[in-house]
Amino acid sequence: MRILKPALLSATALCLVLGACNAPSSKTEIPAAVSTTDATQKIIKHDKFTYANYDQVRVTHLDLNLDVNFDEKVLEGTATLDFKRVGAGSNELVLDARDLSIKDIAVKDASDEWKPAKYTLGEADAIMGSKLTIEIGDTATKVRIAYRTSPEAEGLQWLSPAQTAGKKHPYLFSQAQALNARTMAPVQDTPAVRMTYTATLRVPDGLLPLMSAEQGAKDENGEYHFNMPQPIPSYLLAIAVGDIKFKAINDHIGVYAEQYILDAATEEFSETPLMEASNAKLYGPYRWGRYDLIVLPPSFPYGGMENPRLSFITPTLVAGDKSLTNVVAHELAHSWSGNLVTNSNWRDAWLNEGFTSYVENRVIEDLYGKDRAVMEQALSLEDLKRDIAGATRPELTQLKLPADMAHTDEAFSNVAYVKGQFFLMFLEDRFGRDNFDAFLKSYFDHFAFQSVTTEDFIKYLHDELHAQQPDALTKAELKEWIYQPGLPKTAASPQSDAFEKVAAQQTAWLANKISAAEIKTGEWSTHEWLHFLNTLPDGLSQDQFAQLDKAFSLTGTQNAEKAFAWYMQAIKGGYHAIDADLETFFMTVGRGKFIYRLYGELAKTPEGKAWAIDVFSKAKAGYHPIAQRRISDILAK
Ligand code: BES
Ligand code: ZN
Repeated sequence: MRILKPALLSATALCLVLGACNAPSSKTEIPAAVSTTDATQKIIKHDKFTYANYDQVRVTHLDLNLDVNFDEKVLEGTATLDFKRVGAGSNELVLDARDLSIKDIAVKDASDEWKPAKYTLGEADAIMGSKLTIEIGDTATKVRIAYRTSPEAEGLQWLSPAQTAGKKHPYLFSQAQALNARTMAPVQDTPAVRMTYTATLRVPDGLLPLMSAEQGAKDENGEYHFNMPQPIPSYLLAIAVGDIKFKAINDHIGVYAEQYILDAATEEFSETPLMEASNAKLYGPYRWGRYDLIVLPPSFPYGGMENPRLSFITPTLVAGDKSLTNVVAHELAHSWSGNLVTNSNWRDAWLNEGFTSYVENRVIEDLYGKDRAVMEQALSLEDLKRDIAGATRPELTQLKLPADMAHTDEAFSNVAYVKGQFFLMFLEDRFGRDNFDAFLKSYFDHFAFQSVTTEDFIKYLHDELHAQQPDALTKAELKEWIYQPGLPKTAASPQSDAFEKVAAQQTAWLANKISAAEIKTGEWSTHEWLHFLNTLPDGLSQDQFAQLDKAFSLTGTQNAEKAFAWYMQAIKGGYHAIDADLETFFMTVGRGKFIYRLYGELAKTPEGKAWAIDVFSKAKAGYHPIAQRRISDILAK
């Protein structure tokens, strides 16, 4: 396994090399101007995690023509890119590539003939990959790159038949966000650039390929064709290939999955059409045609990924009681917040994830009522407060992240999600729900299919809402939320009656007034269980752990969220009766949200760490490359 070294480029070097110096630092005033372009409409380059010269030459379309080769674990073929010159233009096109072998490159100019092109592939940086510079002269508008991916590509997981549920066929799935599209194809791998795409795929007999695009039927040559007519950033490029079956929910929503879980998943996600309707009612029509879900193998390292037209989903959501479907609401909400209006660099990740968490929670409230929405807010806030309290670099708790952030992984903490959500809840509260809803709807419309910065949002908020209601909030309040660390005092504190009842039961049990078996849990939802487990105090006795376990069979529970919350407490409390089931959990669940923190908690004691290293050595081969890297880092500390 590759253990990645920290970034080789310092922040200053990146600033000089890549020109990522213009964005405001945490100490600067809120800028007045729209910042993706300056006053003269010159495009400013903000994203330091790309080599692309997108301020000079922009890719507008990608056409992939690929063999999916399971024997060698590679994608192999061509990527043909259309581009246009912008700003001052350039006779070089700069792309991102990581672990790609480039065979040859040709360009096409006005003469309409392909001619070999000169190019250089720079040295590989552990995070950025390699800079691919192609000579395009003055007139070329297309470049064709023959390449193959590496079996170690971080964005692709190749599963053997034994690692699938069906056991007969291999499986491949991708994860491009945030920096891994460049391990799948040479692209301008920045959310600042949007492109349309088409693809032709050849796969072994018996396997179905899917992409984040319109699906064409298999043609007479056995090739599959895909078309994504809406422009998307590279991080939404996605592919899955396997023995995948489909079941419809309605005429434009359905579920893809391996057969073993198809019926259960279709039932679990049967309310997706209601979520779509709720979203559309609030923020305007769904603009992507179909909306399907694909339930991936358990090694998928996320809860969900918002690939357009086809959200990728972890099987751990299929709990049997629809209690974890907020993740589907979340991925669907990205069809507005993120896929339609994208953060133009990862310092502004809250524009994607915070908006989406806010929209997700509004949809949950609309469909299931205030009680469930407030419980979900309260659970999220507990997580955020814990993370802020434990933050080693306070700047990483700002919504606008610092220019010297070392890796995009730092952008996806609870800060982007939950602080972002609570900021929008604050704005909703100050401007009034009706006004704020109309504003958000117009924001999605105004910036549809564009990439924006925090400063673009601030300007739009000022022009469209704040200018009309100047007394609703002060500039200082706004600035504190966006550019300062921690959680502002103006954050809401969600009050859940249901959670108060849970707390009362917990208190009575802790004070020995009732036994564990007498705790009234009969009607508890997953949310109430999570609150109960997350708020258990430190220092429970072994007997108390055993009582709870005996009364509620917590060890080995099939609800992954509950299992995670219980195992975290058990590890902290040294309750080893979980060990066998925790090992099974590590061997069967690859979702990062759970396993990173569980490994991290184990690593806090020498014995725990030794055990974790041993379990990881057995589980590693089944984990996604992203999870392998993250856990190696956690256990190397
Ligand atoms: N876009 C994210 C997943 C992601 C983040 C992938 C960063 C790669 C880098 C997705 O929308 C997400 O937020 N998933 C959450 C869902 C949850 C917050 C409801 C997850 O995976 O847990
Ligand atoms: Zn998200």
